[in-house]
Amino acid sequence: MNNNVIGYLLGAKSEKRQNATFIKIIPRLIIKSFLKGAPFSVNNMKFSFHIFVSALRGEFKFPDCTKLYPALLHINVDRKYRSLGVGRKLIEMYMDFLKRENITGVHLGTKSENSVNFFKKMGFEVFHKNRLSYFRYFLKRDIEHYILVKKL
Ligand SMILES: CC(C)(COP(=O)(O)OP(=O)(O)OC[C@H]1O[C@@H](n2cnc3c(N)ncnc32)[C@H](O)[C@@H]1OP(=O)(O)O)[C@@H](O)C(=O)NCCC(=O)NCCS
Repeated sequence: MNNNVIGYLLGAKSEKRQNATFIKIIPRLIIKSFLKGAPFSVNNMKFSFHIFVSALRGEFKFPDCTKLYPALLHINVDRKYRSLGVGRKLIEMYMDFLKRENITGVHLGTKSENSVNFFKKMGFEVFHKNRLSYFRYFLKRDIEHYILVKKL
């Protein structure tokens, strides 16, 4: 039997608790990346500059959905295995898990307009939509960022 991973769903019952864990890990990651010189590569400096400009423009200020929709998810299915029902199965299993844990709602953020229709099919709705400009320097256009939510 082939044991390759063809997709995954990463979830947290509470985004707030997840962030509390990240805060402990991030300083170590920053130190490691500085020691490797990563922030000083031209590409990374360019990207960081554009992220900084986006932040100044207020593009990372989103309405808080974590009270009604505390859980968070991220999903990815290998291109070769898409449209075979894998994404649906992963979402359904995660929703069942959250319900058993008495979680009231779930949310996610995506910059993939394509995936928004998949999530709508899975019962999600658009909670917030905004434009992000930090990819403009190489895509020559802004991209949309969506926050999608689902009550459980
Ligand atoms: C979005 C994604 C997870 C969908 O996974 P998938 O395994 O291809 O989806 P499924 O085959 O389970 O599709 C389930 C249903 O959604 C529909 N669907 C899937 N992708 C769709 C899309 N882009 N637009 C509209 N409908 C879509 C399918 O037709 C299917 O409908 P049906 O059950 O009525 O036949 C996958 O395309 C992906 O990994 N995309 C890149 C990563 C990403 O954008 N992640 C989101 C940010 S967290």
